[in-house]
This record gives sequence, structure tokens and C-alpha cells, in this order.
Amino acid sequence: MNIYVSDTLQLVFPDIKYAEELHEIITNENERLREWLPWAYNYGSVEKAVFYTELTIRNFIEKKSFGFTILYLGKAVGLVGTHSIDYANKRTTIGYWLSIDVEGKGVMTECVKALLDFCFDELKLNRVEIVCATENLRSNRIAQKLNFQKEGLFKQYELHERGFEDVNYYAVLKENWKK
Ligand SMILES: CC(C)(COP(=O)(O)OP(=O)(O)OC[C@H]1O[C@@H](n2cnc3c(N)ncnc32)[C@H](O)[C@@H]1OP(=O)(O)O)[C@@H](O)C(=O)NCCC(=O)NCCS
Repeated sequence: MNIYVSDTLQLVFPDIKYAEELHEIITNENERLREWLPWAYNYGSVEKAVFYTELTIRNFIEKKSFGFTILYLGKAVGLVGTHSIDYANKRTTIGYWLSIDVEGKGVMTECVKALLDFCFDELKLNRVEIVCATENLRSNRIAQKLNFQKEGLFKQYELHERGFEDVNYYAVLKENWKK
């Protein structure tokens, strides 16, 4: 299952062959990524990247969650995907990260847009959520640009290296999803 976003950009089914490229980004850009992604703090060897890729593949096949690899000009540059799908209530949260090499070009906005089409059209979900630290201005901007409504601010919701961070809780409903 791959999603064509543009001639330069595709979302592809996770594959072990991309684990090394993704591992390199997470290692080389660790300080930058872990500012907003606490899991990156304890990130280790390439074996861990392979383990997470295998887990993502299993979850994808079992339709528990859908983590796509982002290819920019054929190179793996990040991830975008859903967390666990709540099928009973037709909702999920999404997450994403990108290499600094392609940051600031509108890439993630395009990827999230494509993921939302997939969530609403293919998975038939009714609600998709983004939870991001209030200080993560880029990520907040993506939610705002794509018609997510801010539903709340949760105090000290995420534990980062520097301490607990407040988050904005955003959601977009199927009925408000406009292309
Ligand atoms: C967040 C992230 C995915 C953004 O990717 P990206 O491809 O650069 O995002 P886009 O270019 O599509 O959109 C970013 C928006 O933020 C804006 N922006 C950039 N820096 C900004 C700043 N300092 N303050 C406010 N807005 C800013 C951009 O101008 C753009 O908005 P615009 O299109 O209205 O101009 C990327 O920076 C990243 O991976 N960061 C580290 C991991 C992370 O934070 N993940 C999300 C956790 S919730």
C-alpha cells in the first residue's frame, strides 16, 4: 500500500530496506528530533531501527496502525502515520517527523494531507487527532493549516528531557475535512 503525493513525494509501506537510512537520520539529527520526540532520547543501534520497522510492518498488516515511510526523490526522509486505530469510535491520532534536509518546503503538510485522505476515504474514520507541544510551532502550524480545530490545552501532558510540556490537542472531523 503506497500513496502517491507528488512526483517527488511518496508515502510507502514500511520496508526493512529503509531502516538504515532512517536510523542515520535519527542518529545524525538526534538532538534536533528529541527536542520534540521524547522517544528519540533513548534511541540506539540500527538493530532498534530494524525492530521498529518490523513492528510497524506487523501493525500495518494487522491493520492496527499505519506508519508510512516518506520518500523524497526516492530517499527515505521521515515517517508519517497513525497511532493505534480506535475502530469502535472511528478515530486515531497521527504523528510525524522529517529530516532537516527537507524541512521548510511544505513536505509534511502535503504528507499529512495525503494521510488524512487515507484515514477518511480508505479507513472510513470519523476523527483524526494531533497532539503537539504548545512550543512546537512548526507542528502546530501544520494542524492549523489543515483545518484541525484546537479542542484543548493539556497541562504537563508529555515528559520531555527538559521536563513536562503542555500540549495542544487538535482534531479534524470527516465533515470538516476539505481538500
Ligand atoms: C514539524 C515538522 C514535521 C515540519 O515539517 P515541514 O515539512 O518543515 O513542515 P511544513 O513546511 O509543511 O509546514 C511548517 C509550517 O510551519 C511554519 N514555521 C516554520 N518555522 C516556524 C516558526 N519558527 N514559527 C512558526 N511557524 C513556523 C512554516 O512557515 C510552515 O507554515 P506555512 O506553510 O504557513 O509557511 C518537522 O519540522 C519535524 O520533523 N520536526 C521535528 C519532529 C516533530 O516536531 N514532529 C512533530 C511532533 S508533534
